[in-house]
Formats: sequence, C-alpha cells, structure tokens
Amino acid sequence: MAPVDSKALIAKAEAIAREFEYTAEDVRKGVKEFLREMDLGLQNDGQPMTMIPTYVTSVPNGTEKGVYLAVDLGGTNFRVCSVSLKGNSTFTLTQAKAAIPKEMMTSDSHTLFSFLAQQVKAFVEEHHADHFEEFPDHHLQLGFTFSFPVDQRAVNKGYLIRWTKGFDIKDAIGKDVCELLQKEIDALGLPVTVAALVNDTVGTLMARSYTSPGKTGTLLGAIFGTGTNGAYVEKLSKITKMTKPGANIGEYDKSTGEMVVNTEWGSFDNELRVLPNTPYDQELDKMSVNPGIQMFEKRISGMFLGEILRNSLLALKDSAGLFAKADIAADAFLHTPWSVDTSALSFIEADNSEDLARTKQVLEAQLHVPAADISIEEARAVKILAHAIGRRSARLSAVPIAAIIIATGKVQPPPQPRPVAAKTDEELEVIDIGVDGSVVEHYPGFEKLLREALREVEELGEKNEKRIRMGVAKDGSGVGAALIAQVAAKMKGIENKVAGSTA
Ligand code: BGC
Repeated sequence: MAPVDSKALIAKAEAIAREFEYTAEDVRKGVKEFLREMDLGLQNDGQPMTMIPTYVTSVPNGTEKGVYLAVDLGGTNFRVCSVSLKGNSTFTLTQAKAAIPKEMMTSDSHTLFSFLAQQVKAFVEEHHADHFEEFPDHHLQLGFTFSFPVDQRAVNKGYLIRWTKGFDIKDAIGKDVCELLQKEIDALGLPVTVAALVNDTVGTLMARSYTSPGKTGTLLGAIFGTGTNGAYVEKLSKITKMTKPGANIGEYDKSTGEMVVNTEWGSFDNELRVLPNTPYDQELDKMSVNPGIQMFEKRISGMFLGEILRNSLLALKDSAGLFAKADIAADAFLHTPWSVDTSALSFIEADNSEDLARTKQVLEAQLHVPAADISIEEARAVKILAHAIGRRSARLSAVPIAAIIIATGKVQPPPQPRPVAAKTDEELEVIDIGVDGSVVEHYPGFEKLLREALREVEELGEKNEKRIRMGVAKDGSGVGAALIAQVAAKMKGIENKVAGSTA
C-alpha cells in the first residue's frame, strides 16, 4: 500500500464528515414533517409513527405510595426490581440484572418469556420471601416495562406490533405480551400479577414527574439509548382514532382530558422524505434485521452509531488509505458488521489530548488495529468522523422534542407589538423533560448540541429553549412501571400490603 498522504486523508475525512451535516434548514424541515406524521398517527391506526395511546391518563405528583415489582425488557439486559414509593417524591429500589443471551433474542416466545419468569422467581424468592409468609394469598403487583411497539388496548394489555433493536421472535408478533409473561409466571406458581404494561419512555415520563421538583408536570419522557423514542401528555380530544366508530378501545378514565401517548418516533420518516441518507446509513439499513423500518432510530441511537462509524471508516480506508500501516486483513474486525460499539464514539469525543492516545486505544480495543500502527493523522481523521456522526445524532434528536413542544402549545410567541401582553422571562413556565439512555448520558456534549438545534427552530428560538429543563430520570423504567402498576391496582381496588409494616 502506498504511503498515506496525511493532508489528503484529513481532507477526505472532512469531506465524509460534511455528508453528516444536518443544517438548521434540515432541522426545521424535520420538525414540519414530524408534526404532520404526529397528526396522522393520532388520527389513524397503522401509521409508521404509531402514536400509541397508553391508557395512562395522568402523571404522578409525588404522593404515590407502596411496594411494587417492575421488570424491564428492552435492550441488552433484563431487569427485575422492587420499588418502594415513599409518597414524598422519593423511592428506594432493589434490583437484579441478567444479560439476555443473544440467541434468545431470535428464539421463540416461550423460550424468552419463561426465562423472564425464572428471573422474577429468583428475585422474589430472594427479596420478598417475607411478603409471601405474611400475606400468603396476596399477589404482588408488577409493572412490565416492555420497550417495543405494542398495540395497547388497556393498561395491562398490548399486542406486539414489531420487534426492534435486534430482537426477532416471529411467533410473538400480534400476541398480548402481558399474557405471555403472566402465563409463564403462573406456570411457576408465583403469586405475582402483571398489572401494567409500560413503554420505557412512559416509565421515564412517570418517574421524572414523580421526582421532579416544582409544580409543573413533566411533558415528555425521551430515551436516547440502544433505541430512541418518546412519550408525552396529549389532549384526549386530539387522539381522534380512539373515538372513531368501530375503534377497538378498552376502558379508561376520561376525567383528566389527557392521555400519555407513546409516539414510537424511532419509525419517524421511514419513507425518508426529510431524513439524511448517506451511503453509510444505507449500508447499515441493508445489514439490519428490519430494513426500511426504524429509520430515524437508525440515525440516532446507540445500537447503530458504531456501525455508521465503521461504514464511514471503511470508506476512508478505501479512498484515502486509512490504517495503511496496520495492513487490515479481509476478515478483520473493521470488515465485520456491528463490531464497533457506540461507546467508542463517546470515548473518542471525550479525547481532547494532543496525542489522541485514548482514541488509538479504543480503535485497538474495538477494531483490533494495533495502536502503535495508527498515526496521529489517522486518529484525527477518525475523530472527525466520530464527531460528525455524534453531532448529527444530537441535532436529529432535537426534531421530535421541538415538534412535541410546538404541538402541545407550550411555546410562548415572540414578544407582541403591545409589550404589556408579553410575559417576562420569570413568568414563563418551565417545560420539563425526562430523558434516559446511554447516548444522552454518556456522549459528551449531547444535550448542548441538541439545544443548539432547538434554538434554530423558529417557533422556539432561544427564549423557549431556555425554558426547557432536561434531566435524567434515573431508574426511570423501574420506577415508572411501579407507578403505573400502583394506579392500575388502585383502580381495581387492590390493597397494597407491605411486609413487616403496620401501615
Ligand atoms: C422501541 C421503543 C423504545 C425505544 C427505546 C425502540 O426501538 O421501538 O418502544 O421506547 O426503542 O428503548
């Protein structure tokens, strides 16, 4: 291989990076299209952006109390926890985590769900033996966080629409996932009732609302992790598909006039009307288990950013001789789909050292390119690409947030001609957003980049962007599922019993 021209290498990296530009104009176009698809999904079943009514009709205010079980299936781990809600915006949580064996992600529903039930059994035996001794006939209520698109028909009933994030268990499609879990729990003779089905975004919204300071309820729960999605509080009157003649709808409380909607924004613009579509995105989609689906998610979330980076590194190798000294073999990691983890982008972004030693280490650890064989220019070129991909992800993430703030009427108009009518900055209400997930938590500067894009949306501007309070809802899925199980149990008049307590 000819010696690498380092100037040409950097120039080529910059050219590829420009393909990941997502301009202010693109953001604004994205918001417009998102608003259109939101409306379509609220009005009709079967839309790509599914806009799922969740049957959750209010957000907590911090006074909720009791002990609930929660399980969480949605990514690489399965978690079981018990949550004790204290009634004063605080909680305690005990949890156990089990990695989901990779082959189980594409097995059959009995294999997966019996594995989940086994984990619940081990957990309650370890942590709740006293409960069953004290109250032999009482069932613990369980909230099931299931972070895939389901057609929800009641607070504890939802039929799986499709798998995402690498799961692919065909016989589960169209089945009620609560029933699948309950059946396996019953088979083990456990006194546990699956009381509520919750998407992780809804859990995040609930948890943030329970713990977030101030009187303003949380508007939106958003995940930027392995996958991406958001749930927000919508007016019932706008969810017109629920009131269409013949709509197959379960019971819900209409008194609040609101319902939490799980947008499933991962499938925003599957038709690619406005989303960027580089050759690296196209290659990734081709290699995925669900081509043409979750197109927004595939440009944003943790499951995919590493692969986009790998594809762009390959392009840089082919066009400008990246990793020339290392002499990469045809069967090397660089040529193996999905071999780069998204954490690589976070580490590289965080590496501000002169010699980019950390970047080289990450390339060695993940791609097995010996650090000693990577020149400083090569490390710099990789960093240019990694930054461009991370930045695009953060700017794309602003699109649904801006659109939901606009759609729910939360924006304050720019100052009126008669200034008396305009509110002062102090009078403007906070817009509270709960977030969670590895990308928003660990990618350096993700929120800052996202906020820059929010300010570029005309309806928001700096004035409204400043009103947004964004915070990580720690343990959101567990606490949120517990909160919804609490509401569901209360509605059914099921008493909460706490072992060892006289309350
Ligand atoms: C799923 C959503 C989920 C999101 C974040 C997506 O792939 O479709 O239901 O909320 O990932 O976990």
